[in-house]
Amino acid sequence: MRPMTEQNMINAFGGESMAHMRYRLFARMAEAQHPNVARLWRAISEAELIHAGDHYRTLKYIDEGRVANSMAAFGPGDVAKNLGLSIGGETFEIEEMYPSYKQIAEMQGEKDALRSFDWSYQTEKKHLELFQKAQAAVSAGSDVQLGPVQVCSVCGYTLEGEAPDECPVCGAKKDKFTAYA
Ligand code: FE2
Ligand code: FE2
Ligand code: FE2
Repeated sequence: MRPMTEQNMINAFGGESMAHMRYRLFARMAEAQHPNVARLWRAISEAELIHAGDHYRTLKYIDEGRVANSMAAFGPGDVAKNLGLSIGGETFEIEEMYPSYKQIAEMQGEKDALRSFDWSYQTEKKHLELFQKAQAAVSAGSDVQLGPVQVCSVCGYTLEGEAPDECPVCGAKKDKFTAYA
């Protein structure tokens, strides 16, 4: 893999890995008072694990120590603060990180990397929507009303409601979706 795309992939792996862990922790903190927001964070944390795994497999073996540089906020807050951090992270990925990583991968002819970045990019747009819905409920003083949340086990695509016959991002069949209900 060309060095620039390779470093971007390492950074993306780092960012997805930390998003996975941060959302798991946010879910635990929200469980008692906002169980549906907690369930949303659990579902989305699984999607971020799938993204991290896809990036990791795309990277192949690198025989040297490398540093991942991902933009991330640290330190816990209350449920509203943590939703704000989640929205900030997804927005950064949608507006800054993945569009530029995709463009470089495309310019460098790195097709596998481009696909991996794009699966994440498409998914993060849904994550942002779902977190915004949760934020609206929490700022109105309640838990979010939320149907089952479905996560595609191939690409991480996430949606609320019934699983589709075919994943709109990667084409996986309905039985590849995991429901968080
Ligand atoms: Fe992700
Ligand atoms: Fe995400
Ligand atoms: Fe998918």
